[in-house]
Amino acid sequence: MAKQERVAVITGSSRGIGRGIAEQLGKDGYAMVINGYHAADCQETAAELAAEGFTVVAAPGDVSQKSTHEMLVKTAVTNFGRLDTYINNAGIAQIGNLLDESAESFHKIYATNVDSVLFGTQAAAKQFKQQADGEKIRKIINASSIAGHVGYEQLGAYSSTKFAIRGLTQVAAKELAKYGITVNAYCPGIVGTDMWDYIDARMVAENGGTKGQYLKAAIDGISLGRAETPADVADFVSYLASPMSDYMTGQAVQIDGGVQFI
Ligand SMILES: NC(=O)c1ccc[n+]([C@@H]2O[C@H](COP(=O)([O-])OP(=O)(O)OC[C@H]3O[C@@H](n4cnc5c(N)ncnc54)[C@H](O)[C@@H]3O)[C@@H](O)[C@H]2O)c1
Repeated sequence: MAKQERVAVITGSSRGIGRGIAEQLGKDGYAMVINGYHAADCQETAAELAAEGFTVVAAPGDVSQKSTHEMLVKTAVTNFGRLDTYINNAGIAQIGNLLDESAESFHKIYATNVDSVLFGTQAAAKQFKQQADGEKIRKIINASSIAGHVGYEQLGAYSSTKFAIRGLTQVAAKELAKYGITVNAYCPGIVGTDMWDYIDARMVAENGGTKGQYLKAAIDGISLGRAETPADVADFVSYLASPMSDYMTGQAVQIDGGVQFI
């Protein structure tokens, strides 16, 4: 495969926001490693992106495992010769009250949402340090959330993982700046993906009501009056991945259509 000008790994890019990011970075001229939990999803999305003319390779794997991140970096370097941007996008949601939270489900969401960001940061930084040329800024970009700025009822474990990602983002930004690596996070609002279908269905199961009710209530709270799309998020991630944001690090920016104003 031909070497590209810029190369990215995007975890959880087989679906939802991650896929939207892949569509945008593809237009920006990136070669990309497409990851997701389910191999079939991942292969299918990669084939569709390739049919759109983008340079991609599929690399399914569980982001809660350190070895997956090492594999993703290796896949980028083997196929495209380098790595410039590592996007820790994959994540899961869970619904439930804190008093009912089990150790098992709490550890599962931390492994998927937080361990993954630590391991992705480590694997990417190791590669970036080897490539360091003193000029080009390399990027680590993490998915936090509006729920990483304000805790949401029945999304307690999820919210706390997204706060933790902001903490990791700040510390990594401080520790890695000397290597020419910036670390930032994007914090989406209410994005119409499988994740919100799941949240809405679980809210109905926990609290009663009808399908779509909780999603509609959340959308009603958006100043701009519509649900966010993966493309809305991807436009901002495109900026974070580009040299336009080279002087920005350690930030976790809400891109939510006007839900929270803190
Ligand atoms: N949807 C929203 O409203 C919203 C809002 C704020 C933040 N976010 C965050 O954005 C990110 C993407 O969310 P989404 O809405 O696109 O979710 P989604 O459920 O639509 O897609 C999730 C993606 O992550 C992958 N994934 C999940 N667990 C994985 C694992 N263990 N290993 C590898 N891949 C795994 C899935 O395969 C899929 O590709 C998440 O981190 C989420 O917390 C979403």
